[in-house]
Amino acid sequence: MRLGFIGAGNMGGAIIKGLIKSGKISAENINVVEKNTALLEGFTKEQGICPCKDYEELIKNSDIVFMAVKPVVFPSVIEDIKGYIRAERPLLISMAAGITTESIGEMLGFDTPIVRMMPNINAEILMSATALCKNAAASDSDLDTAEDILRAIGMTARIDENMFAVFSAIAGCSPAYVYLFIDSLAKGAQKMGMNKKQALEIAAAAVSGSAAMFSRSDAHPWELIDKVCSPGGTTIEGVCTLEEYKFQSAIVKAVENSVLKDRALNKK
Ligand SMILES: NC(=O)c1ccc[n+]([C@@H]2O[C@H](COP(=O)([O-])OP(=O)(O)OC[C@H]3O[C@@H](n4cnc5c(N)ncnc54)[C@H](OP(=O)(O)O)[C@@H]3O)[C@@H](O)[C@H]2O)c1
Repeated sequence: MRLGFIGAGNMGGAIIKGLIKSGKISAENINVVEKNTALLEGFTKEQGICPCKDYEELIKNSDIVFMAVKPVVFPSVIEDIKGYIRAERPLLISMAAGITTESIGEMLGFDTPIVRMMPNINAEILMSATALCKNAAASDSDLDTAEDILRAIGMTARIDENMFAVFSAIAGCSPAYVYLFIDSLAKGAQKMGMNKKQALEIAAAAVSGSAAMFSRSDAHPWELIDKVCSPGGTTIEGVCTLEEYKFQSAIVKAVENSVLKDRALNKK
């Protein structure tokens, strides 16, 4: 299978590196058109990918074309490539935030298989949570193929397209919430006399260990919480304090408001 990337910046680049590292696709089967020539030269030298002179060469030589440019330039790139897409019919995979498969179809002006994906920033360390869905013209096997490729950068989740805003809140925005939580843990430790730098390292290890423990178990979060809380002990004291200060309600509200903001922004 030959892949084409239009854009190899933060996200396109992370996927390319993930694919090569995982051994799923060899570098000579990865075609790239990238406006930033320094970036493209780096990728060509370090990763051994194939730079293409233009969109036509890329699309003619790719079974799957990833659109990895910013949403603001997305429509003009679609305008430039639509003739080649119509002629070659590759599977088009878009990662553009806020651009639906329906609007991509409208930009193209014809029906063609499209998969929409939404990675998160942890793709950089191959630990993305990536959502995906397809339009009506794409087959189940197109979606299977896309999902198989995207597993190279982390976990994947097939969701309805109308859930993309919700997905973005819990996977795209949540890294910021988690950083805030880590900083708050360390701040508490600092208040109680620990060096902040060391406290941050400890808090980050505790958070990533707890996430891994949850992912590997079949238990409900509250079963794990109960396991850590000895009767009359320190943890239950802290858990009750978090409840008193409405920790869970604050997070539920943050997710809700992130989704509403996403929907408001994408209506414009
Ligand atoms: N970064 C994330 O965490 C994240 C998360 C979810 C989704 N996404 C989506 O991923 C897509 C890419 O975002 P990004 O963060 O990777 O952006 P980025 O780092 O700016 O990468 C885009 C790259 O494409 C290049 N480019 C611009 N116009 C081009 C064109 N016409 N032909 C070929 N290359 C072109 C840019 O070059 P110049 O810089 O020279 O313009 C840049 O190197 C966006 O649609 C975004 O919504 C990103």
